[in-house]
Amino acid sequence: MKITVVGAGAVGASCAEYIAIKNFASEVVLLDIKQGFAEGKAMDLMQCASLNGFDTKITGSTNDYSKTSNSDICVITSGIPRKPGMTRDELIGINAGIVKTVSTSLVEYSPNTVLIVVSNPMDTMTYLTHKLTGLPKHKIIGMGGALDSARFKYRLAEALRAPISDVDGMVIGGHSDVGMVPLISHATRNSIKVSEFISNDRLEQVKKDTKVGGATLTKLLGTSAWYAPGAAVSGLVQAIACDQKKIFPCSVLLEGEYGLSDLCIGVPVVLGANGIEEIIEIELSESDKVHLHTSAEGVKKTNSLLEV
Ligand code: LAC
Repeated sequence: MKITVVGAGAVGASCAEYIAIKNFASEVVLLDIKQGFAEGKAMDLMQCASLNGFDTKITGSTNDYSKTSNSDICVITSGIPRKPGMTRDELIGINAGIVKTVSTSLVEYSPNTVLIVVSNPMDTMTYLTHKLTGLPKHKIIGMGGALDSARFKYRLAEALRAPISDVDGMVIGGHSDVGMVPLISHATRNSIKVSEFISNDRLEQVKKDTKVGGATLTKLLGTSAWYAPGAAVSGLVQAIACDQKKIFPCSVLLEGEYGLSDLCIGVPVVLGANGIEEIIEIELSESDKVHLHTSAEGVKKTNSLLEV
């Protein structure tokens, strides 16, 4: 199983690290445009192998896509991250050009790959990748919902004063501060609805904190987060590489599901060896339906800024 991660910055390197630590892949190629940077990160990570007990071989490449050839899964983390006060949408001008070059170069060398898009604005970059690469729709996956759901579970556990392992919850919709739809009515603590334990006001606060999860970290760190984004990507990669058939909310091309079409937005999907194996349509409350459709309008507005 060969996996390529483009962008050896904080998110890409943390993604490569988590993939290696989970020890399910034979090879990870890290690629970056900055001379020697991916090679350096790969060497540093390889020097963790005997300490952390993994056999995954990590190599680095300065922009030589031939090194990525025949990858089973490719992850795109390239582009600029947001600075405090910026929205993810503001990155579109620079990142669209980068994602265009990266995605077409990857597919040239790995025509059968599954692509995971992380670069922001993520839903729009995922849609752009569909337009550019000609890959079948089940092979293009945007990573947002897995991360947003992890942040939701963190906030739920905090509010419930419960261990995170006891908490389940999902965020659908666009990967933006306004677009996320945390599904409170589906969230549970060990299969009991969370509303049995905490007030609606507290749950509203959980929702708000979840939606600005990335922005809160960007303010604290001065740049966007990397540990949880890297861990979320590694979860998707493992589900595909190990044919786990796990459900994650991911940004996928919709063609009528949830009454939406011609955009990529977060909905629950089954991930396995073929990439997206099924899009799951769950029953939403009236208010979650309205929020999902409003979120879709926002994503479409950002998509309209693309020059394709
Ligand atoms: C975040 C970036 C990855 O939410 O979008 O941290």
